[in-house]
Amino acid sequence: MWKSRWRSRTARWSVVQASAPRVTAVVISHRRDAATAQKVMLSGARGFVASPAEPHALDATLRAARTRHLDAQEMILRPPSAGGEPPPAGFVITVFGPKGGVGKTTIAANLAISLRRQSQARVVIVDTDAYFGDIALTLGLKPERTLPDLLEQVAAGERPDVMSFLLQHPSGVAVLPARHAGGVHSPPDAEAIAHLIRTLARSFDFVVVDTPGAFGPSVAAALDESTTALLVTSADMASVKDARISMEALREEGFSDDRLKLVVNHATNANSVTDSDIARTVQTEVFCSIPHDREVPISTQRGEPLVLHAPRARMAQEVNELAAMLSGLGTTEPEQAGVFGGLFRRRG
Ligand SMILES: Nc1ncnc2c1ncn2[C@@H]1O[C@H](COP(=O)(O)OP(=O)(O)OP(=O)(O)O)[C@@H](O)[C@H]1O
Ligand SMILES: [Mg+2]
Repeated sequence: MWKSRWRSRTARWSVVQASAPRVTAVVISHRRDAATAQKVMLSGARGFVASPAEPHALDATLRAARTRHLDAQEMILRPPSAGGEPPPAGFVITVFGPKGGVGKTTIAANLAISLRRQSQARVVIVDTDAYFGDIALTLGLKPERTLPDLLEQVAAGERPDVMSFLLQHPSGVAVLPARHAGGVHSPPDAEAIAHLIRTLARSFDFVVVDTPGAFGPSVAAALDESTTALLVTSADMASVKDARISMEALREEGFSDDRLKLVVNHATNANSVTDSDIARTVQTEVFCSIPHDREVPISTQRGEPLVLHAPRARMAQEVNELAAMLSGLGTTEPEQAGVFGGLFRRRG
């Protein structure tokens, strides 16, 4: 019931924004909870104010909304400014894990499509794996201009339009792929990655970031920009041990538990450890457990993600559930959705 009411509101705001592109939509509501604010922003509005509002708070929101609106129309990757920019409105979900081959790319691709399909939100997926990135392959797209090309232009002092580097997937998800076919690139500059993610989060509701197998400066930069970080482990002891070390290291760095979620992906069908063993070892509850599905490697090879091409597959259903939890659309009451609304808060 709530879901369908929410969908119609989503449609209404999108129509307002599309039919009057020069208008900046800001919503004033008597509701003050994070979930309502999140839903309003996802519906295409550029700002949210809880009433009654102090004049200075209203003024700050209107100014930030206007800047967001202008940024969304012109997505130029400028050098980082000394400050004064409003915080990006979009949610950044980084999919990472210290081990290779645990299913990060598979989850990132399916999650991005599921977010798009469930909320009609603006979703972009960024492949930051400069060497071996295969988001484009997984989505059946042929990359032309890639992340390394974009960063090269920035390094050369140019101001590239990020929009011209994005591919459009038939699901409506925008894609920034990583590499030329067969090309090898040096690891991307961490600060440039952080700046790119912030730029995208000004124009998209969700920025899904896929990361390389090894933990490096660009992964750390993406995590810093994240509202939610999904730590992916497969169900084998080597991967679980590395997940525990990563979790401890991030906690020591001050990364709060409400931003860090453990995802178990049963990438193989050798169930050597159970989810409860994993939760005990990593000392974190399992946020989502994705079952093994032999259709997954086939879908990867075909470039046809399961959430689109076999939505009834168990793996697809679990990813849909994950997307619903992350977007706050998975609950029946807005108050309950506030639990998930709490996920989307950047550090500091
Ligand atoms: N739940 C699953 N069931 C079956 N196979 C899976 C599952 N998840 C992933 N796979 C398969 O496992 C392989 C590795 O997945 P993927 O490329 O997503 O891992 P990755 O963590 O991104 O790897 P890398 O670190 O190399 O980037 C792929 O062939 C994929 O199809
Ligand atoms: Mg990958």
